[in-house]
Amino acid sequence: MAQINPSILSADFARLAEEAQAVEGADWLHVDVMDNHFVPNLTLGVPIVESLSRATSTPLDCHLMIEDADRWAPQYVEAGAGSVTFHVEAAAAPVRLAREIRAKGARASMALRPATPIEPYEDLLPELDMLLIMTVEPGFGGQSFLDIMLPKIRRTRELISRHGLELWLQVDGGVSESTIERCAEAGADVFVAGSAVYGAKDPAAAVQALRAKAAG
Ligand code: DX5
Ligand code: ZN
Repeated sequence: MAQINPSILSADFARLAEEAQAVEGADWLHVDVMDNHFVPNLTLGVPIVESLSRATSTPLDCHLMIEDADRWAPQYVEAGAGSVTFHVEAAAAPVRLAREIRAKGARASMALRPATPIEPYEDLLPELDMLLIMTVEPGFGGQSFLDIMLPKIRRTRELISRHGLELWLQVDGGVSESTIERCAEAGADVFVAGSAVYGAKDPAAAVQALRAKAAG
């Protein structure tokens, strides 16, 4: 079943609780944490995640675009995230970190920037609950979907099947009604959408429309 995770990066940050509640039919709420070092943009941190987790019943899918992920990721589990994604490029010890996230009670997820290949990380897949393939350069909402990532999505899905894993495969960046079918066909099953949801007049209806398209 396709899961749709609206990204609050495209929401109104002065009305985060209402914006979170506007998409309560979604599977997860995607929360983009940026530190102005790993990516050239700055968003929010642990205290806001804590407040947000109390303001919505939708579980939080925290995407950490921050350096020194080993140090910070566990704190997002404590703040109430149900899933924590770190970037492999920013983690010194990804296996230890994934195990720590799981031990603290959240789903462990690892993200790859567009230029980072999956193949060197094949043996790490059993340590993860989700793998995120970025379909834009991380840092900003509203960018165009990178079609050149489709072969990587396909190869990753093949690796997951070959190892008989339950791992979810998430895509993030430029996912819309016009690109989601290509992602689903390539093997993604968790879809982050920022501008396609919060740029719509009715965000909840946009979630349903994306879900229908992803189901084919
Ligand atoms: C970008 C973020 C995304 C962003 C996606 O670095 O990781 O989650 O919100 O926004 P759209 O869906 O507008 O590309
Ligand atoms: Zn994201």
